[in-house]
Amino acid sequence: MKDVIRIYPTPEMSASASAAFIDRTIKEVLQEKEKVSLALSGGSTPALLFSVLAAEYADSGYWDKIKIFWVDERCVPPSDSESNFGNAAKLFLDPLKIPEANIFRIHGESAPEVEVKRYSEVLVAELGEVPQLDICLLGIGTDGHTASIFPRDIKLMQSREIVAVATHPESGQRRITITGKVINNSKTTVFLAHGKEKKSVLDQILNQKGREKYPAGLVLNSFEGVLWYLDTEAYRLP
Ligand code: 6PG
Repeated sequence: MKDVIRIYPTPEMSASASAAFIDRTIKEVLQEKEKVSLALSGGSTPALLFSVLAAEYADSGYWDKIKIFWVDERCVPPSDSESNFGNAAKLFLDPLKIPEANIFRIHGESAPEVEVKRYSEVLVAELGEVPQLDICLLGIGTDGHTASIFPRDIKLMQSREIVAVATHPESGQRRITITGKVINNSKTTVFLAHGKEKKSVLDQILNQKGREKYPAGLVLNSFEGVLWYLDTEAYRLP
């Protein structure tokens, strides 16, 4: 598993650098393809990245060529403060006027089993039999989860399915998540993680101290390695 680790003094600098990388990657993909598929994570970390993209890349001229997906969604309606789509809409989709037709949100308001089937069909229709994302943006929980694949469901990293229902181990909140089958088929995979609360799990994953215990530790990218945009609170080179 190849990790490309990029560390910055602050979360803002890390987010800014990852935004520049995403911009470069989008432009490279658009040299070969009409549209770029970009999957977003939820949680708090991406907010900085979304804000940078909306503030500094609004005039890039490519936002109508980006198809937006999610790596996971909480089983709540879009209006709920927990909604990954709802939060991305405020900070990213709306400011950049991403066309509705290019937004493939997960329907958190639907019955989970029904939505797993629907979103699976969308991913296959848009991204192929084994869906392949151009860019997959991931976060990591302090327990080493990524998307909504929690350690007790680590088998979802090797699932034959492309979408699954998951349950948050503490809150019991139901989630819809893509599985490792999709995550590990991405052309470009980017983790964004900041803050000292992520230090322990990143140390274990990036310094090979039993990374296989964690779903995030099983993320791989056979094209260019997994890119980690971190701040010095979250990780320092050994
Ligand atoms: C979610 C995310 C999840 C997130 C991690 C980190 O829906 O919560 O997809 O995988 O990336 O939980 O969350 P923070 O960025 O809030 O630390």
